[in-house]
Amino acid sequence: MATAIATPPRIAHRIVAAGADLDTPCLVVDAPTLRRNVSEMAAFASSVGVALRPHIKTHKTPQIARLQLAAGAVGITCAKVGEAEVMVERAGVTDVLLAYPTVGEAKVRRLLALMARARVTVALDSREAGELLGHAIAAADRTLDVLVEVNTGHDRAGARAGDEAIALGLDLARTRGLRVVGVMTHEGQANAAPPETIEATALEAGRALVATAEALRQRGIDVQTVSVGSTPAATFTPTVPGVTEMRPGTYVFNDTSAFRYGRLGPDDCALRVLATVVSRPAPDRAVIDAGSKTLALDKSLGHPGHGYVVGHPDAEIVRVSEEHGVVLLPPGEEGFRVGDQVEVIPNHVCPVVNLQDQLVIVQDGQPIDTWDVAARGKVR
Ligand SMILES: Cc1ncc(COP(=O)(O)O)c(C=O)c1O
Repeated sequence: MATAIATPPRIAHRIVAAGADLDTPCLVVDAPTLRRNVSEMAAFASSVGVALRPHIKTHKTPQIARLQLAAGAVGITCAKVGEAEVMVERAGVTDVLLAYPTVGEAKVRRLLALMARARVTVALDSREAGELLGHAIAAADRTLDVLVEVNTGHDRAGARAGDEAIALGLDLARTRGLRVVGVMTHEGQANAAPPETIEATALEAGRALVATAEALRQRGIDVQTVSVGSTPAATFTPTVPGVTEMRPGTYVFNDTSAFRYGRLGPDDCALRVLATVVSRPAPDRAVIDAGSKTLALDKSLGHPGHGYVVGHPDAEIVRVSEEHGVVLLPPGEEGFRVGDQVEVIPNHVCPVVNLQDQLVIVQDGQPIDTWDVAARGKVR
């Protein structure tokens, strides 16, 4: 079903002051907005009595992981072993959930090395992966804590909630080297759900996960962790009684996909792509120096085009080639002279961050620091 795109609030503030000397395209992060996003999610988790284990795939930056831990996160979530290696090494993280099927001999060797330096839990959704991991872990005289990945409607990875996940959980629990300590789901179906149904979608996912956890307990498994994770669903799924942990990722920065839920607008988006107008080939057309190699290619359900140009809500980035962003300007649009800088809120901030080496941290309009996106490109 097509969903109407909500109009985002038109008032939005630039975070970089005119005249700040920054080469473009680059990623700028407003420090106060970042800190507010981090602390509000931590406060929410604590208000509903669940542990916060943020997914670091959004920022891949040790300093931000440290901010999240300082705000009360119990540990972090990563997809890939490589991300976890960086966070343990450079952010001093001591507790990691790999919420992604970890498969392959090379991965298992690295996982064992990681287990020597941090508490590691792995989500699994197949007996095959369980056998491979369990065999190597048992041979090393270790035990690996495992969450059963449950499909509560996203239809990506995961054993279907109910009988399928229960059977998998029991088999994993019988596998030497593994200890099943919980269940997890990524209720990503909520991200695409029409705004008026997102709450019901999220609650349904949470209840299906809790019911699966309870069924496993009745069969003798000591299920301690019941973990959910999605930014759009973050205020709903963790409220289901029985959920113990939440793993939002995107909330640290937010992006245009958040606009459609009405709660968040451009001023909640801590990260922007700072870009320069490099060409004005026609009265209704400008070209910025951010194309698909900077803005990525994701579409948004919250805003048309390839990103939201702060202060110019009717200017649409209609097309990107690798290094060109083509902006269609409404009649009478001021600005967009060659050399002007614009701030663009990405449609999907996570792949955008993965394309850059550094984040420029900004306070009161001025760059105050540069942080390495140390886990960028760590897709293995
Ligand atoms: C397994 C898992 N957990 C948590 C998240 C966080 O969701 P979001 O990006 O909506 O914050 C994701 C996102 O892809 C995920 O794949």
